[in-house]
Amino acid sequence: CFTDQSPNKTMRVFLLLCLLALGNAKPYQPINVMEFMRNYDVMMADSSDEDDDEDDDDDDDDYDDENCPPGCNCSPRVVQCSDQGQISVPEKIPEDTVILDLQNNDITEIMEDDFKGLHKLHGLFLINNKISKIHPKAFRNMDHLRLLYLSYNMLTEIPANLPPNVIELRFHENKINRIQENAFKGLRKLHVLELGANPLTNAGIELGAFNGLSSLYIGIAEAKLTAVPKALPSSITELNLDYNKISKVEVEDFIRYKNLQRLRLGFNQIKFVENGSFVTIPNVREIHLDNNRLKKIPPGLSSLRYLQVIFLHGNKISSVGVNDFCPIRPNVKKNLYTGISLFANPVKYWDIQPATFRCVTGRRGVQLGNFRK
Ligand SMILES: *[C@@H]1O[C@H](CO)[C@@H](O)[C@H](O)[C@H]1NC(C)=O
Repeated sequence: CFTDQSPNKTMRVFLLLCLLALGNAKPYQPINVMEFMRNYDVMMADSSDEDDDEDDDDDDDDYDDENCPPGCNCSPRVVQCSDQGQISVPEKIPEDTVILDLQNNDITEIMEDDFKGLHKLHGLFLINNKISKIHPKAFRNMDHLRLLYLSYNMLTEIPANLPPNVIELRFHENKINRIQENAFKGLRKLHVLELGANPLTNAGIELGAFNGLSSLYIGIAEAKLTAVPKALPSSITELNLDYNKISKVEVEDFIRYKNLQRLRLGFNQIKFVENGSFVTIPNVREIHLDNNRLKKIPPGLSSLRYLQVIFLHGNKISSVGVNDFCPIRPNVKKNLYTGISLFANPVKYWDIQPATFRCVTGRRGVQLGNFRK
């Protein structure tokens, strides 16, 4: 997920949520809202700057079941209406709702007033519906909304006027083929932007699509990209472009992404990495280039001081040079590799000189695997 930038407890809880939720690849897996709520309570108990409009904590006692919308289960501050075959957002959702769970229904459209008055909402889960339309004012006044999950729907573009303080925004597996200019403008607190499994091409990402956005993680895996998108926010520390159709990596690809620490380019069609491409991301710790069409070890790895993990398995690499991974001069400081994978390549593994791996933690750090004939 995203990385170790902020060591406080709140961030750790988010990190945990984020890691859990990142596993929501196919098939669709429901979110356990009660689990979520427990994490939320830990998080809120933790953060002193967030309780500005918190009432007394006794309102759990005078909690009134009559206020629960039909077809929903309510517990204090949590309204769950999942798996009910709902075709629209239920009416009269209590205004003190913090988590609203509408996942796994048949909702097709979000109307202007569907969430009216829900100013305290923190998490809104609309995963696995049939939503193709969201009214541009649907998210107004949602200043506390942190988590907006819209994965597994039928959206063709990014909804307008997204809540300004959202931290996680998920659009996995929709039909988004265009990201319009300023689609995310003003979202300065985002950590996670998940756009994977959408039919996005490079041309579909309009100039200025990511203007005014700050995010740590961006995922556009399983899309139709033929090159690394150039105009992503420069704040990103993690970029996932697995399962696209990218055919080469060039020097200009990462010039803007100086903070990048984890880069995933697995399962593409990369034949060629231009020398100098990775020099522009000096903080990178992990690079996935597995399952591509590389014939050589990408140049410049030995100069990446923090690089610890490099996946190169499943390529067409036929030779490995003694200085491909490690600095030539032993006094050049370099963090040791913990993972180099080279299996499923047509290299004769017995030809690789042992000194090639002189800057690896130990034998387990290198996966050569069973060589093919
Ligand atoms: C890559 O570029 C660096 C710096 O210009 C140079 O020292 C190095 O020899 C080049 N490597 C290859 C494989 O061309």
